[in-house]
Amino acid sequence: MSKSIIEFKDVSKIYSNGTLGLKDVNLTVDPGEFVVIVGLSGAGKSTLLRSINQLQTISEGDVLIDGQSIVKARGKSLRELRRSIGMIFQNFNLVKQSSVQRNVLSGRVGYYSTFKSVFGLFSKEDKQNAVDALKRVSLAEKIYTRADQLSGGQQQRVAIARTLIQNPKIILADEPIASLDPLTTKLVLDDLKSINEELGITVMVNLHSKELAKKYATRIIGLRAGELIYDKKINEVSEVDLDQIYNGETASPKEAVNE
Ligand SMILES: Nc1ncnc2c1ncn2[C@@H]1O[C@H](COP(=O)(O)OP(=O)(O)O)[C@@H](O)[C@H]1O
Ligand SMILES: [Mg+2]
Repeated sequence: MSKSIIEFKDVSKIYSNGTLGLKDVNLTVDPGEFVVIVGLSGAGKSTLLRSINQLQTISEGDVLIDGQSIVKARGKSLRELRRSIGMIFQNFNLVKQSSVQRNVLSGRVGYYSTFKSVFGLFSKEDKQNAVDALKRVSLAEKIYTRADQLSGGQQQRVAIARTLIQNPKIILADEPIASLDPLTTKLVLDDLKSINEELGITVMVNLHSKELAKKYATRIIGLRAGELIYDKKINEVSEVDLDQIYNGETASPKEAVNE
């Protein structure tokens, strides 16, 4: 059996105000999977994703990246683990007044000293990496354009290029298409899919559309009230299952027990 790239061991998260984020989540993701996370608003999808790169701490349990605990990691090993995980967001998180090139290169700062990155002293090689990453999302000709001159879909693809030059093993995407139209949505998800298939990067993404989940996922995970209620490979997922998880109803055999 192949080694998992992401493993959750009895992970719980309770926010400081007492709100439950995640409850006893156990999960293993194999390298190269395209995992779609579904669940109603407030189900814990963002909490789950942010636990993976420790953008937010967990209360109990452990999260392993490629066999190494990111929860216990400190200093250099934490930085290295974080570098191996790219993240894209609903609102793109670009520096709007900066060029596309600068935004993409910022994905590389984890590899530079603060001094060099503050002064933009990126190597020639990394400038070429930025071009290559932009080619992958079909935006090479926009390299000197200011980020705020781009459409939403183009900005999201710049954000994908920014994660790519991090050289990640994993890309996390928290509702990456929530503010995009259907055509742009397809471009963004197609880019993520080709990156997943051609570069072998594991992708985990929150999606609100049943049709898109079916089209792109190799695996679907359902969350409700912080609990994992559904976890199946796409070829085992039935239409009835999908309807149920997207309606926020019970879907899994595990869920036979009452709440
Ligand atoms: N920073 C926070 N402080 C307190 N509660 C939070 C915080 N972030 C999220 N929550 C709560 O945790 C639960 C899960 O939230 P979240 O992971 O954002 O869900 P989703 O992404 O599925 O909408 C919700 O009840 C939400 O209100
Ligand atoms: Mg969310």
